Amino acid sequence: MRKLRHPLPVRLFHWLLTPTMLIELATGFYLTNPSRRLGLPNVRSARKIHFVTGSLLTALFAAYLYGRNKTEIVPERRDLGSHLWSFLAYELFLTPKKPEFPKYNPGQKLLFTLWLFLIPFVLLLGWLLYFPQFFQKWIRLFGGLNNVRRLVYLASVLMTASIAGHVYFALTSSVAHLRSIFTGRT
Ligand code: HEM
Ligand code: HEM
Repeated sequence: MRKLRHPLPVRLFHWLLTPTMLIELATGFYLTNPSRRLGLPNVRSARKIHFVTGSLLTALFAAYLYGRNKTEIVPERRDLGSHLWSFLAYELFLTPKKPEFPKYNPGQKLLFTLWLFLIPFVLLLGWLLYFPQFFQKWIRLFGGLNNVRRLVYLASVLMTASIAGHVYFALTSSVAHLRSIFTGRT
C-alpha cells in the first residue's frame, strides 16, 4: 500500500483553490485593464465573477487557516539552515544527490508560508474595495483607495509569479508527489 501524503480535505482544498484562484486573478487583471485577450465579455460580468469567486476563496481559505496543521508548512530553524543549503545545492546542480525531507522541501515551505499571509492580505484588501464606505477608516490606514488598488495589483503579480514557480516545480520534481495531490498516495 502506498503511503498517504495528502488526506482528502487537503486535496479537496487544493483542487477548489486552483480554479478559484486562477479565475480571481484573471478577472482581477481584467478589471485593471479590460482587454479582449482574457476572453471576458465586459467589466460588469468580470465584477460579478470576481465577487462570487472572491467570496468562495474567502470561505475556502478561512477553512484552510482554521483546519490545516501549520507545523508541516511553516519552516523550522533547520529549514533555514542545513536543509536550505542541501536543497539549494541540488537545485543549482552543485550535487547530483537529491536530498530527502520529512515532507516539504524548504522552498515549498517558504512559498506556502508566504501564501499563508499573502492570500488573506489580498482577500482583506478585496473586501475593503468592495465596501469602501463601510471600511473608510481602514482604507485611510492604507493611504486611500488608489493605494489599496495598487497593493492588490502588486500582490496579484506576486501571486501569479509564485503560482507559475509552484506549478513548474510540481510538474518537474517528483512524479510520486505529483500523483499524491490527485490520489492522496505517493
Ligand atoms: C486572492 C484574491 C484576490 C485577488 C488576486 C484579487 C485581484 C484583484 C485585482 C488584480 C484587481 C484590480 C486592481 C486594480 O488594478 O485596480 C482587483 C480589484 C477588485 N477586487 Fe479583487 N482580488 C481578490 C479578492 C477579492 C475579494 C475577496 C473581493 C471582494 C468581493 C474583491 C473585490 C474587488 C473589487 C471590488 C475590485 C475593484 C473592481 C473595480 O475596479 O470595479 N477582490 N482584485
Ligand atoms: C495545475 C496547477 C497545479 C498543480 C499541478 C499543483 C500541484 C501541487 C502538488 C503536486 C502539490 C503537493 C506537493 C508535494 O506533495 O510535495 C501541491 C501542493 C499545494 N499547492 Fe498546488 N498545484 C497547482 C496549482 C496550485 C494553485 C493555483 C495554488 C494556489 C495558490 C496551489 C497551492 C498549493 C498549496 C497551498 C499546496 C500545499 C497544500 C498543503 O499541504 O496544505 N496550487 N500542489
